[in-house]
Amino acid sequence: NNSDCPVIAIDGPTASGKGTVAALVAANLGYQYLDSGAIYRVLAVAVAKLGLNPEIPANLLQIIAMAANLPVQFQADQVLLGGEDVSDAIRTEVAGVMASRLAVVPEVRNGLLQRQRDFRQMPGLVADGRDMGSVVFPDSVLKVFLTASAQVRAERRVKQIEARGQKADFQIIYNDLVARDKRDSERAVAPLKPCDDALVLDCSNMPIDQVVATIQNWARERI
Ligand code: DC
Repeated sequence: NNSDCPVIAIDGPTASGKGTVAALVAANLGYQYLDSGAIYRVLAVAVAKLGLNPEIPANLLQIIAMAANLPVQFQADQVLLGGEDVSDAIRTEVAGVMASRLAVVPEVRNGLLQRQRDFRQMPGLVADGRDMGSVVFPDSVLKVFLTASAQVRAERRVKQIEARGQKADFQIIYNDLVARDKRDSERAVAPLKPCDDALVLDCSNMPIDQVVATIQNWARERI
């Protein structure tokens, strides 16, 4: 299947800027773009709609079945669940926390695997997430682990939320972010950590265009 198609994997913790950076790199190179977190978030919204609780075994079985058949579609800048626009719903903190809880379940991750690999299409793919380089696209030509301090990431998240006209409490956001990092890093399956062959980029003090340029330079050397 598309093994000649180059993949640039950009992994890292929440609010590291990887979404923005990955989308820009993809646009500049004319590549496809996969926001894998959005897929986990769509599942989270689907689970919340049905009022399912992943801690209840019978519900978890239902969630696992849903993961493998999730009717998600990406259309221009819209994300659809069964035809319904969930672009805003997936961006709430509640959806993020539920996504992170579901993401610890190996069967859920497996169920979402093929859907992510389907994005690998010519002329290339930029994929952002937690395990793009380690699990989903281990043969990526370039693996970047994009990170930033928790302080900087919480500040960015607050700005994002305020830009949507919503209120954000820094301390709550910061605590939630640290808890989410911990859960994402300590889970047994596909934990959040740089793989051995990843280039680590700390962008705490870097403007976005410099991050994008750095990654594109690395890509140019390899593709
Ligand atoms: O990147 P994000 O904040 O949109 O991701 C939401 C959650 O989904 C994140 O806390 C963990 C999970 N996730 C994952 O486990 N693996 C990925 N490749 C992407 C997201």
